Amino acid sequence: ATEPLILGIESSCDETGVGVVRGTQLLTNTVSSSMDEHVRFGGVIPEIASRAHLEAFVPTLQAALAEADVSLEDVDAIAVTAGPGLSGALMVGVAAAKALAVATGKPLFAINHLVAHVGVGLIGRAPADGLPPALGALLVSGGHTEILRVVDIAGDVELLGSTIDDAAGEAYDKTARILGLGYPGGPAIDRVAADGDPKAIRFPRGLSQPKYMGTAEEPGPHRYDWSFSGLKTAVARSVEQYEAAGREVPVADIAASFQEAVVDVVTSKAVLACQEHGITDLLLGGGVAANRRLRELAQERCAAAGITLTVPPISLCTDNGAMVAALGAQLVRSGRSPSGIAFGTNPSLPV
Ligand code: KG4
Ligand code: ZN
Repeated sequence: ATEPLILGIESSCDETGVGVVRGTQLLTNTVSSSMDEHVRFGGVIPEIASRAHLEAFVPTLQAALAEADVSLEDVDAIAVTAGPGLSGALMVGVAAAKALAVATGKPLFAINHLVAHVGVGLIGRAPADGLPPALGALLVSGGHTEILRVVDIAGDVELLGSTIDDAAGEAYDKTARILGLGYPGGPAIDRVAADGDPKAIRFPRGLSQPKYMGTAEEPGPHRYDWSFSGLKTAVARSVEQYEAAGREVPVADIAASFQEAVVDVVTSKAVLACQEHGITDLLLGGGVAANRRLRELAQERCAAAGITLTVPPISLCTDNGAMVAALGAQLVRSGRSPSGIAFGTNPSLPV
């Protein structure tokens, strides 16, 4: 039997994404971003994002269908992000997906954006019945930093650890603001850090002290958790000290040292959680997974620990419709019932 053809729609933040997959094969990943309109405000403005989705949706859909060389009639099911994300932005994509589903009679699946961020790592793999049994996922995005055990990508995902305050992406964005690097901060720090010394300043690795870590036999209260708010404060203090001393702020060194602190603690705790839960296959996902140093160190540490790491191409790490389609395909394959057309959006949907 041929694999199901799935159309995926994403509109949770500033990216209008339409992707098409056939099973685990990617046919297109078409994205239109309104980021340019948000930059001068230093953050995504929900009202502007919603309007941009409304304008971009149909052209993005048409471009995606053309590139995949399929028509709506060919599609077996439609999948759409129902949360988490910006309420008004989610509603544009969900309303559009419902209209398409009603007009074409295709089944519609409500998708969890967070699970889709890690499910996208299954693109290009052998069909789902070949999924490794000990699968984990490291989700690092603008709103979430979590290490997960994936029992069943179609709905059974267990949280092993998470940030107790800021998400990794949030830490990048806030730190970039402190350093005057603008918005969005992640890509800016990634770029600037390339010219800095990651060992220039030893910034704190949150929740790494023995009282939080405990031991494998007797885990402490935050063995697999992260904290990034102290790191952001340490960066601010460092900048203040240079300024108070009338010295030039070494932006590249601070950016590189900050990045090293994030990436060091993210990868070390993720690997530890995998080792102590028998996880041998790890999917990396979320916007921060686009970070070059994170990709490099995660690969290095997983290899040393005997863990097979899947790092999606950068275009599949930041928000997109292909990840929604990819998870939709897994739901269809698992024989899940469609979501109907009466579901709502959930801006704070957990994994
Ligand atoms: O997953 P995503 O696109 O949106 C959410 O679902 O949150 O993640 C956005 C986050 C932002 O905080 C952005 O600064 C960060 O991902 N990001 C990066 C990089 N590219 C995007 N962080 C570090 N390095 C990057 N290259
Ligand atoms: Zn996202």
